[in-house]
Amino acid sequence: MRLTISRQLNLLSVVVIILAVITGLASTSVDMGSLPDADTSEIIKKDSVKSVKAFLEAYKVLMSPRCVNCHPAGDVPLQGDESRLHAMKPQRGKDGKGLNAMKCANCHRESNTPGLNMPPGAPNWHLPPADMKMVFQGKTAHELAKQLMDPKQNGNKSKEQLIAHATDALVLAAWNPGEGRTTPPLSHEAFAKAWTTWIKYGGYAPGK
Ligand code: HEC
Ligand code: HEC
Repeated sequence: MRLTISRQLNLLSVVVIILAVITGLASTSVDMGSLPDADTSEIIKKDSVKSVKAFLEAYKVLMSPRCVNCHPAGDVPLQGDESRLHAMKPQRGKDGKGLNAMKCANCHRESNTPGLNMPPGAPNWHLPPADMKMVFQGKTAHELAKQLMDPKQNGNKSKEQLIAHATDALVLAAWNPGEGRTTPPLSHEAFAKAWTTWIKYGGYAPGK
């Protein structure tokens, strides 16, 4: 009798596992195939006014030199509050980590090198890769919002991953920029709130 019950339980658990695998597969294939706007799992309620207002706040940070200097239109990083070309013009390279003797990590350490005009640092300091440059420099709020929401241009990030990126080490580095550099115009907390609100209320782009 006991044996039968445990057999039945075994059978039941096999069925449960199979069902779990099937649902798992189904939801992954839906996620992978869905358009950026179709992934509503993290959306509280679509609200374009609230979303756009939050993006315009976040945009002030996105376009600040601490972010733009690593999201340049060309293949050389920028430096300073006026976003001039990086001295000695290190190149992006295929993986964004520099080329030959000018690898970013040769100079940029895991943390800031103390002193004025010394290299800022954070783990894995580099530019976005050559096949997905994630350019911020020169983008209008409309253009940048569209680009950030597009998995084909944002590093294939879902809305959840985009939200999580607010605390990425290279993002946080902007608020610990090293001696003599200014921080972005909002606190990190205010930025993270605006960023999350933008995405959770639908990730809308401001008008052109
Ligand atoms: C030969 C050393 C060296 C290499 C190689 C190098 N950098 Fe730099 N980088 C520096 C120094 C020094 C500074 C600070 C300059 C200053 O403040 O006057 C700097 C500053 C920067 C800044 C400006 C930070 C800010 O917030 O204004 C960025 C961005 C940057 N580097 C990115 C990179 C990237 C990306 C690479 C690789 C593609 C790279 N660097 C390669 C030495 C280097
Ligand atoms: C040291 C260079 C560096 C700095 C500084 C930096 N980023 Fe980035 N950023 C990158 C790299 C490299 C990637 C690509 C890696 C990835 O997608 O995770 C990236 C990706 C992103 C992405 C996701 C992809 C997309 O759609 O563009 C966002 C959002 C972003 N950065 C925002 C910021 C913001 C906001 C700041 C300033 C507060 C900032 N970054 C500062 C290097 C940097």
